[in-house]
Amino acid sequence: MRTNRQIILKSTPRGVPTPDNFTVRSAPLPEPGANSVLCRTRYLSLDPYMRSQIAGRHLSGTVTAGDVMRGETVSEVVHSNAASFPPGQLVRCMGGWQEYSVHGAGDLDAVQATVDPPSYALSVLGMTGLTAYAGMIWQAGVRAGDCVVIPAVTGGVGSIAAQLCALRGARVIGIAGSAEKCRHAVESLGVTACIERRSEDVDTRLGELCPDGIDVYFDLVGGPTLHAACRRLAHYGRVVLGGLMAEYNRDDRSPGPAPGLLIAKRAIVSGLVVYDYEDRRDEYKLECLPLLAKGKLHQREDVTDGLENAPAAFQRLMSGQSFGKVIVRL
Ligand SMILES: NC(=O)c1ccc[n+]([C@@H]2O[C@H](COP(=O)([O-])OP(=O)(O)OC[C@H]3O[C@@H](n4cnc5c(N)ncnc54)[C@H](OP(=O)(O)O)[C@@H]3O)[C@@H](O)[C@H]2O)c1
Repeated sequence: MRTNRQIILKSTPRGVPTPDNFTVRSAPLPEPGANSVLCRTRYLSLDPYMRSQIAGRHLSGTVTAGDVMRGETVSEVVHSNAASFPPGQLVRCMGGWQEYSVHGAGDLDAVQATVDPPSYALSVLGMTGLTAYAGMIWQAGVRAGDCVVIPAVTGGVGSIAAQLCALRGARVIGIAGSAEKCRHAVESLGVTACIERRSEDVDTRLGELCPDGIDVYFDLVGGPTLHAACRRLAHYGRVVLGGLMAEYNRDDRSPGPAPGLLIAKRAIVSGLVVYDYEDRRDEYKLECLPLLAKGKLHQREDVTDGLENAPAAFQRLMSGQSFGKVIVRL
């Protein structure tokens, strides 16, 4: 009898999650009902929000010990009771950290055969690409001449944000965790200069690289980098708060930047939740697809093979060791 291998949360991590926090389980193969399909997972997206789900702090809900880890996947329909999704069709769905999943037709999004590799439906054409576009184009309104600062600049969101801003004529300053990542940012992502956060003083370097102040800061990390960027804002600087990479592995949260700083700079601060932009995904894709086809937009993916290796890949993501959008290939 075919079974369904699943990755289960075994215990809530303290600090960076490790493979010890997870276990593999074999469950019976699920059966699709009316207007539903059975899918086999081909690619699984690993994302920082999963760390918040297992800490019970995410707006999409909580994953507790004993639960299958959730996540977005590109999956192949292997048995169909829904005419619009025949066997062999690739779909984007919330398949989770498991080999098989069942979905109603209304919860599936067909992945076109032209999406190559299909994992792009989870990265540049997926949630991380949409986050980058929503944050920088729709929320911050980045325009030519802006000085834009982006941390985690070679990551899933940061790498697309940097390229989109550079394509609009902005001057992009990246921040990344290694010299190799900084080199990639400058050579491949349109970044003018990149600060190596582990060996350079970020505050000092921001002052040197943005002498007229920062027009747009895309905060993907929180912590000391957010404080440094707020100290260096230009008048009417825009800050888009998108993530807390420096804090997800901690139990506590650090206080935000001093309001006086933001008042003096007439700063415009906005929070970003990508779910709010789901109905504009096609609009984003319309802009993004020609750029991809012309080679003006690139996506580096950090691909790990094998479902059983997902916990180790997640550990790398949550400790800043990954390089590009993190994907598990099954
Ligand atoms: N608001 C939304 O709707 C939304 C949607 C999607 C993602 N996000 C957020 O966007 C951020 C990036 O997500 P992603 O999927 O693209 O991940 P990612 O950038 O591919 O990976 C995370 C990166 O964060 C950096 N980082 C790790 N620890 C850090 C620390 N202590 N200080 C500064 N930087 C640190 C590391 O890059 P370096 O080592 O190179 O610095 C690491 O590679 C996350 O905060 C995520 O939660 C938000």
